[in-house]
Amino acid sequence: MAGTTHAHWSSRWAFIMAAVGSAVGLGNIWKFPYEANAGGGGAFVLVYLAFVFLIGTPLLVAELSLGRRGQSSPIRSMEKIAKEEGRTNWWSLVGWSGVIGSFIVISFYSIVGGWTLSYVVEAVTGGMTGITKDAAEAHFNDMVTDPINPLIWHAVFMAITVGIVLRGVEGGLEKAVTVLMPALFVLLVGLVVYSGVTGDFSAAVNFLFAPDWSKMNADVALNALGQSFFSLSLALGSIMVYGSYLTKDVKIGKAAVTIAGADSAVAIMAGLAIFPIVFQFGLTVGKEEGLVFMTLPIAFGQMTGGAVIGTLFFGLLTVAAITSSISLLEPSVSYLEETDKLDRKKATFLIGTAAFLLGSLSSLGFGVLSDVTIFGKSIIGFKSYITNNLMMPLAGMFMAIFIGWFISRKNIMDELAMEDRWFRVWYFMIKFVCPIAILIVFYNIVFGF
Ligand code: PHE
Repeated sequence: MAGTTHAHWSSRWAFIMAAVGSAVGLGNIWKFPYEANAGGGGAFVLVYLAFVFLIGTPLLVAELSLGRRGQSSPIRSMEKIAKEEGRTNWWSLVGWSGVIGSFIVISFYSIVGGWTLSYVVEAVTGGMTGITKDAAEAHFNDMVTDPINPLIWHAVFMAITVGIVLRGVEGGLEKAVTVLMPALFVLLVGLVVYSGVTGDFSAAVNFLFAPDWSKMNADVALNALGQSFFSLSLALGSIMVYGSYLTKDVKIGKAAVTIAGADSAVAIMAGLAIFPIVFQFGLTVGKEEGLVFMTLPIAFGQMTGGAVIGTLFFGLLTVAAITSSISLLEPSVSYLEETDKLDRKKATFLIGTAAFLLGSLSSLGFGVLSDVTIFGKSIIGFKSYITNNLMMPLAGMFMAIFIGWFISRKNIMDELAMEDRWFRVWYFMIKFVCPIAILIVFYNIVFGF
């Protein structure tokens, strides 16, 4: 009976692991290195980090505090707070956008999650041994265009996500993240050390930290902002619902800095694990999906112990994806559960099945349905555009505006219990910097220059 007793994390540590688990995902390990490469390495990394700490972290504080104050699903939390502050019920649209947006994202996130699972098996069974560039590309293309295979992996990935989520906050989410996140960290450190010893580490460090400003332009800066939102799991309801399971004794400001710091550290470590290998083997970075799925298998296929390293790498990617996908399923599950018409198990099954079906269309969009376009985009491209480029920035901006302009300052101060000077800095960012920065970016994303 969700309406009566709302669940809570059993400790601050469990919450931090869950939130870092949500933030660290395919965005860090699959997408970040590619974006960094496209944006000129160090220049992109610096701009990205500036966005994470100047805009992302204040918003993280905002979203967590809304969740904790609401103690409900994102929709009901927004409704409740708007009512308490004497504001219109329209503010609940921020919650709706999160619930619907996270549902759309899990539908295609799970497809890529399925690919990572299939690559674990590929690596374990020695399928990458001696693979050539052409064969690696052909393998990836065959896999994604096949009508059946990716759907099976998508189903397996979704089943794992559902299996964790239906066990509830303490029994499911918390148990999974407190085991998986430390494991992921150890694996990643191991891989960085391995890459550092066997790969071209100095080239990688140089690439990631020496900025080539000539590649920096407004588009790249926009990508960096979009990437910072996605990577921090912002404005999709995941952080808000995780915030709703928080108890009052946790300091949200400190937690947000820890989450943002860990997320950025993992992104950079992923770069330090991947690029030494890429440079050592003289590989070129191809299309977005290509870097980890088409390029790395070539390296794993050539190096000694490549089967083990490859298995560890794709295992790591899968673990990171799962701790994020559970946070993508949770907003809609928490909403359905709260209506008291369905218990948690049924709600999770229902949402998982619906997301599986919606996601299957995206998967088929690579093959049989590749002719289908929506506003000139592939199915997965369309879903990613409306969530990443429309719903996330808009919901993020309205969240900042709501807190900065429509909630009493005193109530926020009480909720956050921050040191005065930090509160002032944060409040200024939320009131002015975040909405204006997002507005500029949003305008450019939608209307171009
Ligand atoms: N942050 C996750 C990643 O980097 C994705 C995610 C986005 C998860 C939004 C939850 C909400 O992969």
